[in-house]
Amino acid sequence: MDKFLIEGGKCLRGEVRVSGAKNAALPIIAAALLVKGPLVIDNMPALQDVNTMLKLIESMGVKIERRGDMLVSIDASSIDSHKAPYELVKTMRASILVLGPLLAHFGEAEVSLPGGCAIGSRPVDLHIRGLEAMGANIVVEEGYIRATMDGRLKGAKIFFDTVTVTGTENILMAATLAEGQTIIENAAKEPEVTDLAECLVSMGADISGAGTDTIIINGVDALHSAEHSVVPDRIETGTFLVAAAMSGGKVTTTATKPGIQEAVLQKLIEAGASIEIGEDWITLDMQGKRPKAVNITTAPYPAFPTDMQAQFAAMNCVAEGVSHVKETIFENRFMHMQEMIRMGAKILIDGNTATIEGSTQLRGAPVMATDLRASASLVMLALVVEGETLIDRIYHIDRGYENIEEKFQAIGGKITRISANH
Ligand code: UD1
Repeated sequence: MDKFLIEGGKCLRGEVRVSGAKNAALPIIAAALLVKGPLVIDNMPALQDVNTMLKLIESMGVKIERRGDMLVSIDASSIDSHKAPYELVKTMRASILVLGPLLAHFGEAEVSLPGGCAIGSRPVDLHIRGLEAMGANIVVEEGYIRATMDGRLKGAKIFFDTVTVTGTENILMAATLAEGQTIIENAAKEPEVTDLAECLVSMGADISGAGTDTIIINGVDALHSAEHSVVPDRIETGTFLVAAAMSGGKVTTTATKPGIQEAVLQKLIEAGASIEIGEDWITLDMQGKRPKAVNITTAPYPAFPTDMQAQFAAMNCVAEGVSHVKETIFENRFMHMQEMIRMGAKILIDGNTATIEGSTQLRGAPVMATDLRASASLVMLALVVEGETLIDRIYHIDRGYENIEEKFQAIGGKITRISANH
């Protein structure tokens, strides 16, 4: 397994180009299953999760053509299987995103039931109930969700009692080909849902209200080929900006979308950063200062994202003052904190709230990455505290950050990948 060796105590300065968003790319790849004929996707990030999703639909007979670094053309005309097997789903929960499109287009789908994961139990009951409300017959047996439908799915009114991002996306995709109107209430408002909706509209879908909590979809008989560019990754953007703030440095993120970054930017300003914004760039300047600790509470968009919680926890470990970090989305998303404590962080965890006392005494230590964003937070902390840190199990980070070590190296981070066969 690859590891990162990091020499800390560095101030980060320079420019980082942000990649396309993982959480938009994955549903958009699944959306290609809704149409016979190519869906051409630009700004596709080079990530392990994207490879897994492409491998998954390739295993169903779908044709994938990579044209250059960021362009992928997907053609589902040659599909000959409607099954997402356990071997692939167990490596990536977002595989569940093929359920809605397969069922809507082909009248059947068999998707391995995703298990628990490091950050919590993460059920998919809302995806299943939504599709059942649209007339699907669904049984869960032998570890698989087996869904069938005679004819087209039927439009329905679907109320989610919990805001679910991939649940909203599954129903949104399924509804594009359903008969009649579907109304999703308490829908996820995440920009990645909006990006998927924009892609579907360019494929001929009739959707309104994406980005609000009520999405209305009028089903159409068929979708058509289209081209779409994936929205920039707001979590990657935030990760580099927070890293810069922790180091007292100045970093510009380019090819990004500032308008979808409000909650995070506001917290960075509260931490003492100067922020400058252009059409597709954000500059954070900390002017050599130590950040002030900030309280955060995670919640669905547009509130503070759970996918930025670990990074802000890392900042609070070295910031001035005491902070409270409250996680309301996933029940077990504090695993990175145990590793931070090994580096000298002062953290007390009580249920879903962590109290962090900022300190200047942290030092590098051998640590283990536990999930994607947790891994990023350990890299950030290791880059700014004194001493050497060896981070094990960094395969988590490759799932969702494109060339993270090269991007950090380019802004002055001392980070080296030690590959397993080294
Ligand atoms: C997506 C993101 C992930 C992010 C999360 C929350 C992708 C590929 N992943 O994950 O990066 O951290 O949103 O912003 O986009 N729930 C149920 N039943 C369901 C579905 C969800 O109870 O059927 C619960 C979950 O356990 C969780 C909450 O709803 O507590 C939100 O989860 P959800 O939005 O569905 O997360 P994902 O879509 O899996």
